[in-house]
Amino acid sequence: MSPQNPDRIKIAVQKSGRLTEHSLDLLARCGLKYSKGRDQLICYGENLPIDVLLVRDDDIPGLVRDDVCDLGIVGANVLEEKRLAFAAAGDTAPFTIVRKLDFGHCRLSFAVPEDMPWQGPADLAGRRIATSYPHIVGEFLRRQGLEASVVEFSGAVEIAPKLGRADVICDLVSTGGTLRANHLREEDTILDSVSSLIQTPKTVPAGKAEWMERLKKRIDGVIQVSESKYIMLHAPRAALAEITRLLPGSEAPTVMPLEGREDKVAIHAVCRENVFWETLEELKQAGASSMLVLPVEKMLY
Ligand code: PRP
Ligand code: ZN
Repeated sequence: MSPQNPDRIKIAVQKSGRLTEHSLDLLARCGLKYSKGRDQLICYGENLPIDVLLVRDDDIPGLVRDDVCDLGIVGANVLEEKRLAFAAAGDTAPFTIVRKLDFGHCRLSFAVPEDMPWQGPADLAGRRIATSYPHIVGEFLRRQGLEASVVEFSGAVEIAPKLGRADVICDLVSTGGTLRANHLREEDTILDSVSSLIQTPKTVPAGKAEWMERLKKRIDGVIQVSESKYIMLHAPRAALAEITRLLPGSEAPTVMPLEGREDKVAIHAVCRENVFWETLEELKQAGASSMLVLPVEKMLY
């Protein structure tokens, strides 16, 4: 590891898992070029004062809290678990959630063996629940006024019922593949999760703070771009109002005359939502022709 440089931003990212590729891709889209250190734990930013630390996702909230990292990208599931754990230890402001990102969608759900009946959370009473999220599950049980025992597993929670260590589990579900492979059935969901960018609540030096703001603006741009399309089409002048109305999430499209055509115009617009086939079909119905939908590469407002 190189000597700590206090002027460089350190951002913690999951080392290997569901969020790794998306997180590194997001930073690359923000313009960060990096090279991996020999220990494979740090990516050194080559063109921006930003270094990336590759760590276990569960460690990210603590690294941000303890000021080892200024920023972190981690799922709401881990954030909520750690928030409750830190609060129980008296720390009520360990990190600030500064952006919700558009990847890592998953949910924290109870799951039961395929042959076990389930009417609802009340069935948890007196049961043993295996989970890596003891604080979230504990809080849920308290709110529901249920008594059950929570068995903490740090990984491979899905095998707990087979091992006879628990009756039910509470774990993250994304595609549901892991549950199916272990003959478990998903029941009630207690948390919907998406990844977030977190920041240290402490004041950072001005130069670094400025770069942190720039990075957040770029992240906003990247998220907007992934949801945006540039659309070009020809429209009868008479249908202009209707066609403008049909363009998804666009403000003030550009309307241009078409050489030699009094009755038609060209419309160009940035749509802040994806443009689906259905929309194109509706536009065609309204009289639009020569439609072209293009991806947007960068956007800055
Ligand atoms: C979660 C969870 C399951 C898997 C579910 O692990 O613990 O193993 O994802 O995904 P699926 O429904 O698509 O099969 P995660 O990737 O968060 O790894 P970690 O718990 O080891 O950090
Ligand atoms: Zn994890």
